[in-house]
Amino acid sequence: MVTKLWRRRKDAEPGAVGPLDSTRIPLHIAIIMDGNGRWAQKRGLPRTFGHKAGAEVLREILTDAAEIGVKVLTAYAFSTENWRRPSEEVSFLMELFSTYLDNEVDRLVEKQVRLRFIGNRQRLGAELQRRIESAEQKTAQGTGIELNLAVDYGGRAEIVHAARTLAQDVLDKQLCIDEIDEAQLAKRLFTGNQPDPDLLIRPGGDMRISNFLLWQLAYAELWVTDTLWPDFTPRHFRQAIFAYQQRERRFGGLKTSK
Ligand code: FPP
Repeated sequence: MVTKLWRRRKDAEPGAVGPLDSTRIPLHIAIIMDGNGRWAQKRGLPRTFGHKAGAEVLREILTDAAEIGVKVLTAYAFSTENWRRPSEEVSFLMELFSTYLDNEVDRLVEKQVRLRFIGNRQRLGAELQRRIESAEQKTAQGTGIELNLAVDYGGRAEIVHAARTLAQDVLDKQLCIDEIDEAQLAKRLFTGNQPDPDLLIRPGGDMRISNFLLWQLAYAELWVTDTLWPDFTPRHFRQAIFAYQQRERRFGGLKTSK
């Protein structure tokens, strides 16, 4: 018994990787793309170089996720708190999102990726908002992996937004107070009818959620690595999925089999 437990923990350590079980691929993976600034600074480069490198890594991981059979990938690109960063860094990131849309949208359409921006887009520039809407429209028929890019996103703000929508629906007599339940709130989140993330991956070593998908991550498995996001490779991604597959998910219940 002791040996079995020990073995399970060891397999689950970051670093171990083996063949993936195709019957237990996480449907939804969330990623906090952290460590860009440190990656650049370690190389004596401005932090923005790290963000640019991070955008390339996202492209690679999206391709791998689709290949593995993941259905939804949600990537944290800019939080509601990131506006506090120096204005040059914020402007650079906004420009990077715009350029990404310009350069990537045709490829996303070709690969059947369905793109959504989640977050409060009113604070983004008019041109970026226009590109977001256009990219979402162009990819709306995509039948492959769904990519949620969280920009000006905060989990608390998202829950407040959903609560306001519920209140409005009650005022409009679309809903009775007694009908408010978890499902009613969940479908008013930006992730709507998508499944909750099964796995949260956090590069950069910090052991926190950082206001990301607070509602949706309730039962997600967490996987943290010290590797910085620009150094993150499909091998790390598969390590995370492999570790996930060794975990026993109980959702608050008890173990189902010996
Ligand atoms: C956190 O690292 C990262 C961000 C705030 C930006 C993430 C954005 C990208 C990876 C670019 C994604 C691009 C597109 C086009 C969607 P940090 O800067 O906090 O790093 P640090 O912890 O080392 O300072």
